[in-house]
Amino acid sequence: MVSFTVYKGSKDGSIVKSTTSKPELADDQVLLRVTASGLCGTDEHYRTADMVLGHEGCGVVEAVGPAVRHFKKGDRVGWGYEHDCCGTCDWCLSGRETFCPERAMYGYADLDQGSFATHAIWKEAFLFALPEELTDEEAAPLMCGGATVFGALHMYGVKPTSRVGVIGIGGLGHLAIQFAAKMGCDVVVFSGTDSKKEEAMRLGANEFFATKGVKELNIGKKIDCLLVTTSAQPDWNLYFSLMTPDSVVFPLTVTGGELKIPYMPFLSGGIRIQGSVVAPRLVHKQMLEFAARNGVKPILMKFPMNEAGITKAMKTLSDGDMRYRGVLVPEQEA
Ligand SMILES: NC(=O)c1ccc[n+]([C@@H]2O[C@H](COP(=O)([O-])OP(=O)(O)OC[C@H]3O[C@@H](n4cnc5c(N)ncnc54)[C@H](OP(=O)(O)O)[C@@H]3O)[C@@H](O)[C@H]2O)c1
Ligand SMILES: [Zn+2]
Ligand SMILES: [Zn+2]
Repeated sequence: MVSFTVYKGSKDGSIVKSTTSKPELADDQVLLRVTASGLCGTDEHYRTADMVLGHEGCGVVEAVGPAVRHFKKGDRVGWGYEHDCCGTCDWCLSGRETFCPERAMYGYADLDQGSFATHAIWKEAFLFALPEELTDEEAAPLMCGGATVFGALHMYGVKPTSRVGVIGIGGLGHLAIQFAAKMGCDVVVFSGTDSKKEEAMRLGANEFFATKGVKELNIGKKIDCLLVTTSAQPDWNLYFSLMTPDSVVFPLTVTGGELKIPYMPFLSGGIRIQGSVVAPRLVHKQMLEFAARNGVKPILMKFPMNEAGITKAMKTLSDGDMRYRGVLVPEQEA
């Protein structure tokens, strides 16, 4: 039996410390000691659920099951939103296991484990070796936030010549600016106020527009690709007029309700709306290599991995004060 500490959501939103116990490692299972975990906007959605939180994990391998082939004790690894898939359906066979009907993802499967914890046990095939160029703390936010924005840019035909808009400079947005800039794109950033302007330009933006209270935006050349990384849906009327014909909008925001868009600009401009969820493993691996090679790194605020630290990090995020990704680290390192 293996037991470890985990931190869960609860009905009233308070963070609850608990213990998860699992049988001895079997087959391709890997036991990790968590060294860092990002706090993603999506964790906020599960704060009132009775489940272990956190899905941007990094850690060190402590033990491996008998069938593990590629990792050994002491290796640095990360994991993200997806923990398992069937491996045989058309989606899995074509490297798009994020759409597998049997996918095991955060929020729906393996609710007794997450990255807000001292340890976790995952299948070898869903772990990623961490590049030397990134510390565990720097790699953690890439496991969901980084993979999500890189996936959208990389999988759907965005070119180095594209003019790329990013709305919302949070965990995802500040990585999207860096990835798009390092891909060579012309990056245009939209943010509520001017307060993040300097940082956005430093991260690689060419132009910056504050949007609060603005009814119309005049940005000159129109946009080929728009990544929506806000925590709520934006005013679509404001943005559809900025899109060039045959352009693509990526709504990455997780939210309930409906997507209501201005119909005629969508139709007459031949604009595509492309949903996207994290990234399949090949793209995730390519994202890590790209980040390591090009110096894409999150800007972090560190918090201790305990009830108070997680609560404080979540408050900082919901108050809009996170710059730009919260990372939970084991108490003695905080
Ligand atoms: N599709 C996927 O696979 C995927 C993966 C991960 C996360 N997500 C989702 O992506 C969204 C962003 O995640 P995140 O971790 O980057 O969150 P975050 O760090 O909170 O960033 C969100 C940003 O949105 C802006 N914002 C805040 N409140 C807003 C409001 N009421 N209306 C409009 N904009 C607001 C802020 O940017 P400014 O200050 O610049 O305005 C903020 O920094 C969340 O909805 C999350 O659940 C989706
Ligand atoms: Zn996430
Ligand atoms: Zn499958």
